[in-house]
Amino acid sequence: MNTIKNNLAIFQRGQENKQSIVFIHGFPFDHKMWDSQIEYFSKRFHCVCYDVRGLGESPAGDGQLTLESFVDDLFDLIDALSLNKPILCGLSMGGYIALRAVERDENKFSGLILCDTKAEADTNEGKINRAKAIKDINYNGVEKFAEDFVVKCFAEDFINNHKEKYEAVLNRAKKLESIGVKGCLLAMAGRTDTTGYLSQIKIPVLLLCGEFDQFTPPDVMMAVSDKISHSEFVLLSKAGHVTAVENPKSFNTAVEKYLKNI
Ligand code: MLT
Repeated sequence: MNTIKNNLAIFQRGQENKQSIVFIHGFPFDHKMWDSQIEYFSKRFHCVCYDVRGLGESPAGDGQLTLESFVDDLFDLIDALSLNKPILCGLSMGGYIALRAVERDENKFSGLILCDTKAEADTNEGKINRAKAIKDINYNGVEKFAEDFVVKCFAEDFINNHKEKYEAVLNRAKKLESIGVKGCLLAMAGRTDTTGYLSQIKIPVLLLCGEFDQFTPPDVMMAVSDKISHSEFVLLSKAGHVTAVENPKSFNTAVEKYLKNI
């Protein structure tokens, strides 16, 4: 582990002279979500992952987090490591960050992998749910919130058949700092809608979605894919919202195929 500006925790593997891939995890997770991908791709790529501010080992500071500040952190990371046109791979909240980063400065990147994510901002109902989640955390703590939230992220079969893996993810989420978790909820509630930019994206985009994803179901992601000119959509079986963890084999195969054509 290494830190850059404002103590953002970053993790690297693979040779630095190779094409870089920056992995951005979802909520309420941390960089460990990408273990299978880092293991698999670091032989041929320079793999970088980090903890989004407020989660994992990246301190929340005063907790006043925004999606824009998440993108600022990502740009700081790219500068600090002198990355040359990395490929971005973001899952869910990580996808919101990746898409907004591409909208802010597409020239910085050579490819984009969007996993279980969407371009729309929160609806009114979504914003009210964020507020309820913050209230829940204030009343009952992060542990209880994590228990209620994380279960919805995974396919039922995965939870039943991979208890240890599931518990490991859940236990990490339960230990997160409440100020960071609440900061992320507010940042997501306040994010902009990136739909308008989709048709302007020029870099090749791969979209991956778990067949049982309840948060960003396949039809939502297919609609995103349809708006991007150079895109491919791949549906991953036996997975809910956290495809990289639930079906790493199919996930890695799809990403590998995409990387060959970049
Ligand atoms: C995530 O997995 O990052 C979250 O479910 C995204 C969200 O709550 O919008």
